[in-house]
Amino acid sequence: MNSTDFIVARDAFQECKFIETNLAEANSLPDEALLIKVDRFAFTANNITYATLGEQLKYWQLFPAPEVFGNIPVWGFGEVIASRHPSIEIGERLFGYFPMATHLVIEAADVSKRGLRDAAAHRQGVAPVYNAYARVSGNAAFEGLNGDYQALLRPLFMLSFLVDDFLREHDFFGARSVVLSSASSKTAFGLAHLLHSHPEPTHVTGLTSAANADFVRSLGCYDDVVTYDRIEALPKDAPVAFVDMAGSSALRARLHHHVNDAVKYSGQIGLTHRGFSPNEPELPGAKPAWFFAPDQIRKRAREWGPGGIDQRFGAAWSAFAPTLPKRLTVIQGRGPAAVRQIYLDTLNGRIPPAQGHMLSLWD
Ligand SMILES: NC(=O)c1ccc[n+]([C@@H]2O[C@H](COP(=O)([O-])OP(=O)(O)OC[C@H]3O[C@@H](n4cnc5c(N)ncnc54)[C@H](OP(=O)(O)O)[C@@H]3O)[C@@H](O)[C@H]2O)c1
Repeated sequence: MNSTDFIVARDAFQECKFIETNLAEANSLPDEALLIKVDRFAFTANNITYATLGEQLKYWQLFPAPEVFGNIPVWGFGEVIASRHPSIEIGERLFGYFPMATHLVIEAADVSKRGLRDAAAHRQGVAPVYNAYARVSGNAAFEGLNGDYQALLRPLFMLSFLVDDFLREHDFFGARSVVLSSASSKTAFGLAHLLHSHPEPTHVTGLTSAANADFVRSLGCYDDVVTYDRIEALPKDAPVAFVDMAGSSALRARLHHHVNDAVKYSGQIGLTHRGFSPNEPELPGAKPAWFFAPDQIRKRAREWGPGGIDQRFGAAWSAFAPTLPKRLTVIQGRGPAAVRQIYLDTLNGRIPPAQGHMLSLWD
């Protein structure tokens, strides 16, 4: 049995290709293993960030590729097409982390009514969320367009939810104004939506490129939209919390130098602009620091108890999901050519922010 895999050069992302990899035949899978047909998956700038941080955060080790190449992890849906596990039937649908490929073999472990884990040795040593699969057969929230929204936004909205919680917990570090970069990104507008969903007013400014400013205005969850070339028009002395999805050292330096000591928090979340320099000089205001989601998850799991995060996150998602149809158009791309095109367009910043792309290597 062969899988078609889409792989990219780990040090030169424009270089990409398809390869055929050999998988165990369905009748010779190891005990408890599952053969999955990777049905469809979301692709956004977040996946490019997985590649950017592939070495550092071990993303490349999840779905090994030969030589200097890597397989970028994606969130999506798979269907069990062969099973050596007594509790998992052929035809079951799973939601989780997949390679950009037609197939994946999973070593099923910790199987419960709700999900399972891939116990493959090469997948250990990363945050547990990356090895967990939800069993979603017959769950309407994961079917059709709802399923597309889950794959495109749910993992990103978890980050939005955790940052919103973190900022509130720290009373916005004394600021009442939050500035988000790459405001057109799904992660940023999820956070802007949450910041506006609480009774205490928070002023939310979105920084974006000129080309995406109209989209950001149309979202209705930013009080102000400022294009990157006008950062110096932001109020100078008003305390702000800066949440950075763009990850551009130059942009961050301009904002810190302009707002100065009134930058009360500077959280690094994303790398959409891929302009991060590891040797940034010291900046005025709060010291920039990476926001590490697993720390906030562990803290809240302790404080809120079993199910506490799921229950609060579920409520937040239920309020956010109905806003999506007017904000995003979901586009399905099927077959290798479509996968390659959307990969390159995402890499090169050519995807209009109002689009959400679902892909499949199956024609
Ligand atoms: N730390 C975490 O755990 C975590 C979790 C979730 C997301 N994130 C990060 O948040 C960021 C946003 O992810 P997303 O999936 O929400 O993004 P997305 O919706 O695909 O965002 C697209 C936007 O990013 C900017 N952009 C993308 N590619 C670009 C390029 N090549 N050149 C210049 N600008 C580009 C543009 O926004 P503008 O024009 O507005 O700049 C574009 O509209 C990613 O870096 C992601 O990894 C981090």
